[in-house]
Formats: sequence, C-alpha cells, structure tokens
Amino acid sequence: MTIKTYQSYNFPFELKKEIVDFLFTHLEQFGDSKEVITKALNYIVDKGGHLVLCLEKEEITGVAVINHTHMDSYIPENILVYLATDLNRRRTGIGTLIMKEVLDVCRGNILLRIDAHNPAIKLYEKFGFTNPYLEMVLKR
Ligand SMILES: CC(C)(COP(=O)(O)OP(=O)(O)OC[C@H]1O[C@@H](n2cnc3c(N)ncnc32)[C@H](O)[C@@H]1OP(=O)(O)O)[C@@H](O)C(=O)NCCC(=O)NCCS
Repeated sequence: MTIKTYQSYNFPFELKKEIVDFLFTHLEQFGDSKEVITKALNYIVDKGGHLVLCLEKEEITGVAVINHTHMDSYIPENILVYLATDLNRRRTGIGTLIMKEVLDVCRGNILLRIDAHNPAIKLYEKFGFTNPYLEMVLKR
C-alpha cells in the first residue's frame, strides 16, 4: 500500500474522475453529489488544500480531501471535507494510515463535520479529535 499526498502544484488531474467516482461510491450515505465532490477537489487547485490517496497496485483504496480555510486564529486552518476507504476493505487500517498522513502534512488545526451516528467518530477520537461545540446552521 502506498500513501501519496498532492497539493495545488502537483495535483493529479489524470486521476480526478476516478477520485470523484471513488468518493461518490465509497462515502455511501455520508456523501455528496459528484458535482459537489468536484468543487472540493477544485478548491485544492484554486485556493489550497491537500489530497491524500491510498493506492494499491495503482488502484485507489482510500481518499482524504482537505481544504485550507486561510482563516487561522479564528477558524481552524484545515477542513477535512471527505475521508473514505474502499467499502470492501474496511477495518484493515487504511483509514488510520490516511489520517496519520493528514495529520503529518496539514499544519494547524483541523475541523470536520460528522453525522452524530457515524461509527467513524471512533476513528477521529483515536486521533484526539473532540467536539466541544454544537454546530448551529440556519438553512436558507
Ligand atoms: C470511516 C472510514 C474512513 C474508516 O476507514 P477504515 O479503513 O475502516 O479505518 P481503519 O481500518 O483504520 O479503522 C480504524 C478504527 O476506526 C474505528 N472504526 C472505523 N469504522 C468503524 C465502524 N464501522 N464501527 C466501529 N468502529 C469503526 C475503529 O476503532 C477502528 O479500529 P479497529 O478496527 O482496530 O477497531 C470508513 O469506514 C469509511 O470510508 N466510511 C464511509 C465514509 C465516512 O463515513 N467517512 C467519514 C465521514 S467524514
């Protein structure tokens, strides 16, 4: 298994469609439309962020998408927008490997939003994530 990290300057445009399709499939009920996933990837290229891929024999087995907020000191610098591993290879350590890389390459605090019933909360807690705030949204 190989972990690869990309930013704006070395973004793997040739894998973009494959990454969008992977996230669309493997995020399952926690996912977004392909259009929205594409926006988060474009943000990395246009405004900053990191893309972390786990590859096995050229095949994608896990993806993390981080967008940089550029708002450090009042909003965390990094938003972990998506994390997904291959549906058929869950609980084999891929998510942990990707999160280790995310923590390694991202400077500063990391924010993520997660469904209150998502078992992935355990994974994030293992890495020290806490939830001191309640998020409130005005949907309009
Ligand atoms: C969350 C996700 C990325 C975890 O990936 P993974 O490759 O299975 O992660 P790991 O194998 O490294 O598991 C690490 C730990 O996370 C916790 N964990 C992960 N999935 C879990 C589950 N379904 N139930 C309970 N604990 C879970 C466990 O503590 C696990 O360690 P253990 O297997 O030694 O008990 C994967 O389940 C996924 O893609 N889910 C769908 C998308 C999603 O929910 N993404 C997160 C929302 S932002």
